[in-house]
Amino acid sequence: MPVPSTARPSGRTGALSREIAVTEQFGDPSAASGYASAYDGWTPAARYFRSRLHAVGQSLDSCPGGDLLDAGCGPGMLVRHLLDTRPGDFRITACDRSHGMIGAAARRVGGAGGVGLAVARIEDLPFADGSFDVVLATGVLEYVDTRRALRELARVARPDGLVVVTMLNPRSPYRLFEWCVHWPALRALGRVERLLGVPAHRRHGAGRSGIRAVGPRRLRTLLRDAALCPEDVVFYDLTAWVPPLDKAVRRRFRQWHSHPEPTVSRGRRSWLGSGYLVAARRASGDA
Ligand SMILES: C[S@@+](CC[C@H](N)C(=O)[O-])C[C@H]1O[C@@H](n2cnc3c(N)ncnc32)[C@H](O)[C@@H]1O
Repeated sequence: MPVPSTARPSGRTGALSREIAVTEQFGDPSAASGYASAYDGWTPAARYFRSRLHAVGQSLDSCPGGDLLDAGCGPGMLVRHLLDTRPGDFRITACDRSHGMIGAAARRVGGAGGVGLAVARIEDLPFADGSFDVVLATGVLEYVDTRRALRELARVARPDGLVVVTMLNPRSPYRLFEWCVHWPALRALGRVERLLGVPAHRRHGAGRSGIRAVGPRRLRTLLRDAALCPEDVVFYDLTAWVPPLDKAVRRRFRQWHSHPEPTVSRGRRSWLGSGYLVAARRASGDA
């Protein structure tokens, strides 16, 4: 299953083809287990996810707790992480558009009473205005109408509530190489293999992902338009290794697994981040 760290942007595809790509990627019953397993092991995807969890955890450090929404929760990896690292601090609600993902999330948090799960779209959340002290959306905005989603996240956040969103960094060396060189090369190789009669299941390729990533400046503008005041930008999964070299490197150098701290930055190494996070506050005077 394609995962964010190997996904390709599709800025020119229309909303419908994007919807189809996202449904194919996450609506399939096997998608949840495939996505969850990408968090494990030593792959570039695992490093990306671990670094992102670390960055999100840091953003919540100063937050004492409260009602928390994880929008587009997938199979519940972040919810599980919060239950393990911040036990009892948050009353958690999580939602996703995919029934399969919500089913997997239910199994992952099973027994953790008090976690509310719902099948819902981020653009149309079934929660009252100002319901949450903390609203998280990790790895989701790339797949949706970002402007609409941010308005909805802002709506359900309490005045002065914390909203943390993440995005693939389209200008990082990793993403530029992956999207402009690596994936097109895999597709070209797959076409040659087809001409040579290689069976479909053995051909190289790179699936369409429906992803549309925006840079930090644009995302901050969209946040402000949604009455959210950006306060912090953190770049994560800092890496100078591009695909396919990154696979070998990740297996060899493993310190990121137990020490993800150097994989995030707010400073001069930020440009190496294959993803970034923005923490924002809901404007307090906004109804
Ligand atoms: C890359 S996964 C991220 C999952 C999770 N947030 C994480 O960080 O591991 C993207 C998730 O967003 C969900 N998703 C995509 N479009 C959505 C939408 N319009 N509303 C709600 N969820 C959506 C997908 O079903 C998928 O579970």
